[in-house]
Amino acid sequence: MSHREELAEIVDGLTAPRKHVSPKYFYDERGSQLFDRITELPEYYLTATEIDIMQRHAREIADRVGPQASLIEFGSGSSLKTRILLGHLHELAAYVPVDISEEHLLAAADAIRAEFPHIEVLPVVADFTKPFDLPSPKVMPVRNLVYFPGSTIGNLEYDDALGLLRVMHHEAGDNGALLIGVDLQKDPAVIEAAYNDAAGVTAKFNLNMLRRLNNEFGADFDLDAWAHDARYDPDAGRVVIRLVSDREQQVRIDDTTIEIDEGEAILTEYSHKYTLEGFAAMAAKAGFEVAQVWTDPDELFSVQYLLRRQEPRYED
Ligand code: SAH
Ligand code: AVI
Repeated sequence: MSHREELAEIVDGLTAPRKHVSPKYFYDERGSQLFDRITELPEYYLTATEIDIMQRHAREIADRVGPQASLIEFGSGSSLKTRILLGHLHELAAYVPVDISEEHLLAAADAIRAEFPHIEVLPVVADFTKPFDLPSPKVMPVRNLVYFPGSTIGNLEYDDALGLLRVMHHEAGDNGALLIGVDLQKDPAVIEAAYNDAAGVTAKFNLNMLRRLNNEFGADFDLDAWAHDARYDPDAGRVVIRLVSDREQQVRIDDTTIEIDEGEAILTEYSHKYTLEGFAAMAAKAGFEVAQVWTDPDELFSVQYLLRRQEPRYED
């Protein structure tokens, strides 16, 4: 998307009856760094749990995938968990990390090249919710393994998550598979703590959205007039993450003036939590069959291996 198109998308969201900005705009360089700090927080169980699952099962995953796969990762960020896979996969054809946060992606790709010099690393800067091209590795892969860790799938609403799974189904190709991290429904207190950390890093991450709109899109948000708010809605199975205005105010962005009431919110992110059954049903609609699920002993998080089952059923 061009800068102009991004601005139009942001203004559309901010002038809608329920104000919202897509979570993909969290990730400028500072946002990516703040996310990395979130992954180290004691309350943010997702990353530590997923790493633990990956460490325990990486060999089994590698054996399932077999030799000479091409590893295509969506929303790769710092490629933290990928290192575990790269250390185990047999004779990898290539590693293709895809991310919207350009500087961060290219730095992560350089770090991976230094650590795994025998692997061809082909970073792609793209918004994965829009069509994009994937590069061809020098070595012809036997199959594609699409990797989507971190439960980033949870940041998409149902129809968009299903649409992205269908894109992954296509990218996996005939012989391919999807390895995906999916956060699970659990005690709401555990989930809410993960999005309201004591050190306030998640609040900074959320507020960084407004800083970015000021820096890159000519907005004039007063960062002191907004508060981080994250609550788990157990009925919808999702955390609702918002920025709440503490006063009546006007904000300008480009040539648009936005009127904001005291207590009014901008929705910046959903983070959906799944049941194993619910996720399997969605995956089936995208043409995937869940071949294996690995979880931690407390069933906080899951890593799932999905195989292409059939062509997606578009009728439902
Ligand atoms: N996979 C890493 C990072 C997760 S954070 C982990 O598990 O820790 C989510 C990542 O997805 C960020 O790096 C962000 O830049 C990227 N991202 C979010 N929305 C995106 C989009 N629409 N297109 C491409 N990348 C996106
Ligand atoms: C990237 N994504 C899976 C994170 C999550 O947990 O939904 C983003 C995040 N938002 C607040 N904290 C972390």
